[in-house]
Amino acid sequence: MQFARTDFPEGFLFGVATSSYQIEGHGFGGAGPTHWDSFAATPGNVVRAEHGAVACDHYHRWATDLDLIAAMGADVYRFSTSWARVLPEGTGQPNAEGLDFYDRLVDGMLARGLKPAATLYHWELPQALADQGGWRNADMPDWFADYTHLVMSRIGDRVWSAAPINEPWCVSWLSHFEGAHAPGLRDIRATARAMHHVLLSHGRSIQVMRDLGMKNLGAVCNFEWAEPASDSPEDIAAANRYDAIYNRFFLGGLFKGAYPAEVLAGLGPHLPKGWEDDFPTIQAPLDWLGLNYYTRKLIRHADHAWPSYAEAPTRLPLTQMGWEIYPDGLRDFLIRTARDYSGTLPLFVTENGMANPDRVDQPDAARIAYLGSHLQAVQAAIAAGAPVAGYFVWSLMDNYEWSLGYEKRFGLIHVDFETLARTPKASYHALAQWWRD
Ligand code: FCB
Repeated sequence: MQFARTDFPEGFLFGVATSSYQIEGHGFGGAGPTHWDSFAATPGNVVRAEHGAVACDHYHRWATDLDLIAAMGADVYRFSTSWARVLPEGTGQPNAEGLDFYDRLVDGMLARGLKPAATLYHWELPQALADQGGWRNADMPDWFADYTHLVMSRIGDRVWSAAPINEPWCVSWLSHFEGAHAPGLRDIRATARAMHHVLLSHGRSIQVMRDLGMKNLGAVCNFEWAEPASDSPEDIAAANRYDAIYNRFFLGGLFKGAYPAEVLAGLGPHLPKGWEDDFPTIQAPLDWLGLNYYTRKLIRHADHAWPSYAEAPTRLPLTQMGWEIYPDGLRDFLIRTARDYSGTLPLFVTENGMANPDRVDQPDAARIAYLGSHLQAVQAAIAAGAPVAGYFVWSLMDNYEWSLGYEKRFGLIHVDFETLARTPKASYHALAQWWRD
C-alpha cells in the first residue's frame, strides 16, 4: 500500500496523538495525585498494578519527542494537558511548574512547524475531585470551566485547536457502568450523572474558550460500530441499544439537544434534575468534530437487566487488544455522522491505530496494513461526501494503555520501558514516506 498527500483533498492534515498521563510521567513536576493512581493501586484493576508515575518520561524528553514528530512530516500533534499537573488539588492553587511545562511544549511545537491540537481532559482526574464524587458531582462543570480558563489563559493564544474532553463514553460509561476505568464504579445512577455532566462540562468549557477569543474548538468522541450477531429482532434491538449508548447519546446531546429513547429507558430515572434545560449549553457551536475509531462489536441480546446485551464472538482478524480489524466501520461512521448530525462541519479522525506485540527487531507490518486500510476507508468516506479534514494516528509512541498497563503497544515508535529508549518502527517510516510533501 502506498499513499501520497495528493491522494487526499488539498489542506488535509496528518498527525499523531498522545495523552498526558499515558506518556508524561505523573510523578514529575509537582503534579497532584489522580484517580488513575488510586485505581491502579487497587489490586485487580490494572495489569501488574502498573501506573503512570514514569510512563515514557515525556516530561523530561519532550524536546526529542517533538523532534521525532516533526521528522516524520506530521502537520498536527494532538496532545493533552493534565488537570492534576496544573491544579494538584483540582481547584485552588495552580502549580506554576505544570503551566510552564505546557507553555514550553506548545512553543516547542510551533518552533518545529507543528500545529498544537490540545485536549483538556484525557482522564487523569485530580484525586481531590474524585474524592468529592468526580463526574457524579454537579459542581464538575464549574470546576472544569475554571480549569479550562487557567490552562487556556496560558496557551490558548497559540494552540491551533482545542477540545474539552477526550471520549465522553469512556469517561462516563466505561468508568462508571462497566468499572473498567477509573474510578471503577458499576453503578447506574453514577453513570447517568457522569454521562450528562461530561457533556455539560464540555459545553461550559467551550464557552470559556470562546470568551477567551479562541478559535477552532471541537469535541472528540469515540465510536464503535455495532452490528447484530444475527437477524433476530432481539439481537437487532440489542445492537441498537449498544449503538445508542456508545455513539448516539453523545452525538444526540451535542448536535440535536436530545438523548436517544433507548438510553433514557435505562438512565432516565437517574439523570440529574433539570437535565433537559442544559442542552443550550451542551450545544455550544463547534468548529469541528473528532472521531476516535478502532473496531466494531457484534452484539447479541442477553437475558439480564437493562441494557440487556452482550458481545458475541468476533469473526474477523484481531489486534493485540482482541479488537476486530474493521475499516468499513470508520468509513460508515464518517458518512453517518455527517449525514445525521454534524452536516458540513469538518470531521477529523482524531485517533486510529492498533496495538501489536512489537519488538524492535521486527517490522510492524500489521500496523502498516491496519493504517493503510483505514486511510482507504477515509478516502471512501470523502468520496461519498463526508467532509473529512484530517487523520491522526494513535499513538506517537508505546505508552501506558490504562488498565492494560504497558503491555499493549500502540506506538509508531517503540519504547523500551526499562531504558526509555525510543526506536521508530517500520510504520513510522512508512507514514513518513506517505506524508512527505
Ligand atoms: C482510546 C484512548 C487512548 C488509548 C486508545 C487505545 O480510547 O483515547 O487513550 O487508550 O483508546
